[in-house]
Amino acid sequence: MFHEIDHIGMAVTDLESAIASYRAQFDVADWQIVELPERHMRVAYARIGGSAIELITPTGPAAAFSRFLAERGPGMHHIAYRVHDLDATLATLRQRGVRLIDDIGRPGLHGTRVAFIHPMAVAGVLTELVEHVAP
Ligand code: CO
Repeated sequence: MFHEIDHIGMAVTDLESAIASYRAQFDVADWQIVELPERHMRVAYARIGGSAIELITPTGPAAAFSRFLAERGPGMHHIAYRVHDLDATLATLRQRGVRLIDDIGRPGLHGTRVAFIHPMAVAGVLTELVEHVAP
């Protein structure tokens, strides 16, 4: 079902200073910043080999993860796995009784479709499924 780790998502309070520390400490220099005002968040995305890291920061209290950040502070927020067919995967998971956050896929970064699985179903780890739609 999972065939690759697509990215790891980290919640941060200050996107620019998080990027600066990845640059200065680890030479991760090539960042793409995406503003998602409709989801009250900003994202910085950097490829690491065949995978990527995603730094997410809320722009207001309406962001889905702003409570996570307030309660737990900055840190790892979710892991994202690539799947070949998101709809088929969600159907299989529903059949298996896996608790989902998203019943249907929604648009993700870079023309992907994504859906989240509830952390209660994945040993406490918020898990994202990512389908890369062929261009
Ligand atoms: Co993500």
